Amino acid sequence: MDSSPAHSRSPYGGVIARYGDRMDIRSESGIVTLLEGDTPLLPAPRLADHVAPGSRLFLKYEGLNPTGSFKDRGMTAAVTDALARGAKSIVCASTGNTAASAAAYAARAGIRCAVVLPEGKVAHGKLAGAIAYGADVIPIRGSFDDALAGVREVCERAPITLVNSLNPARIEGQKTAAFEVVETLGDSPDWLALPVGNAGNITSYWRGFREAAASGDCARTPALLGVQAAGSAPIVLGQPVERPETCATAIRIGNPVRWKDAEAALRESRGRILAVTDEAIMAAYRLVAATEGVFCEPASAASIAGLAEAVRQGMVQPEGRTIVCVLTGHGLKDPDVAMRGSVSEPESLEAAAERLTRLAEAR
Ligand code: F0G
Repeated sequence: MDSSPAHSRSPYGGVIARYGDRMDIRSESGIVTLLEGDTPLLPAPRLADHVAPGSRLFLKYEGLNPTGSFKDRGMTAAVTDALARGAKSIVCASTGNTAASAAAYAARAGIRCAVVLPEGKVAHGKLAGAIAYGADVIPIRGSFDDALAGVREVCERAPITLVNSLNPARIEGQKTAAFEVVETLGDSPDWLALPVGNAGNITSYWRGFREAAASGDCARTPALLGVQAAGSAPIVLGQPVERPETCATAIRIGNPVRWKDAEAALRESRGRILAVTDEAIMAAYRLVAATEGVFCEPASAASIAGLAEAVRQGMVQPEGRTIVCVLTGHGLKDPDVAMRGSVSEPESLEAAAERLTRLAEAR
């Protein structure tokens, strides 16, 4: 094994060091890691009172991965595997997070990375990452689905490795989040809610929970609650969406490549999938930050909005249940959404002092 710092097996962890023996990937050229994974499973009792009263609600805070999203779990696996297969460059289409993650792991591995993005629809924190990590950033006029179709075609002809979630190593890496949930809770939750875009993550969680159950780490598997944005809900509608739209740009996807796998995961887990409006997503986005001090990006808040809606519709009975909402990306990924309409005009120091006094005296 290559023992150079970038590739050596770290004594501190990373998901391959922890779970590599349960991952079907190649790693003979060394492990490419940024010590991803091991993210907190935060109890969220104040949020539970609002969205799922009587439940034990937890947040799997994947925004605390090295590049700020869950994509790092799959990317350490995909880049490690690509390196073992002799890849010199990788590429992805992305709504932003995959791009930032691919760029970072390629930098770590010393290989080239190109990212193809829907122009004007990528949150600035993600774009900033991809640029900073030195990727070749290629915006296109078109959607994520268009970008992915183009990239797939190139990868069939040219010696460049596709690291979208079509790449099987990505799923192998991302399933480790389910292992961590099981380890922390000592079993599977009753429900696990997560946003669904290209559907790689729901595919991965289901594989992870199934494998954990098969190896005796948990007594049962959870029901999965998939959540799509109303303007980008192909799986809910049962047909591709030509022009997907949502403020949750991460899941602005009209024709998910892991569609069939997502349907299998929903069926086998006795789960459900539903759509939530942008208004509901933004309300959940503000609620989780204000009640629990947890800042996630809009797409991530879809899991909470979806849970609230599922409880309202009677799909999920929260009383006494253990529920996990996956918060897939950090709120700082999308600073523009966070700031929108909320920056006030500067005040005089006297006026500020008066405001502070009123605040301090408020009951
Ligand atoms: N949440 C966030 C923050 C995401 O970035 C994504 C996907 C998802 C949820 C949905 O996960 O695609 O596995 O169903 N982002 C991809 C990207 C498409 O390019 O970064 P999925």
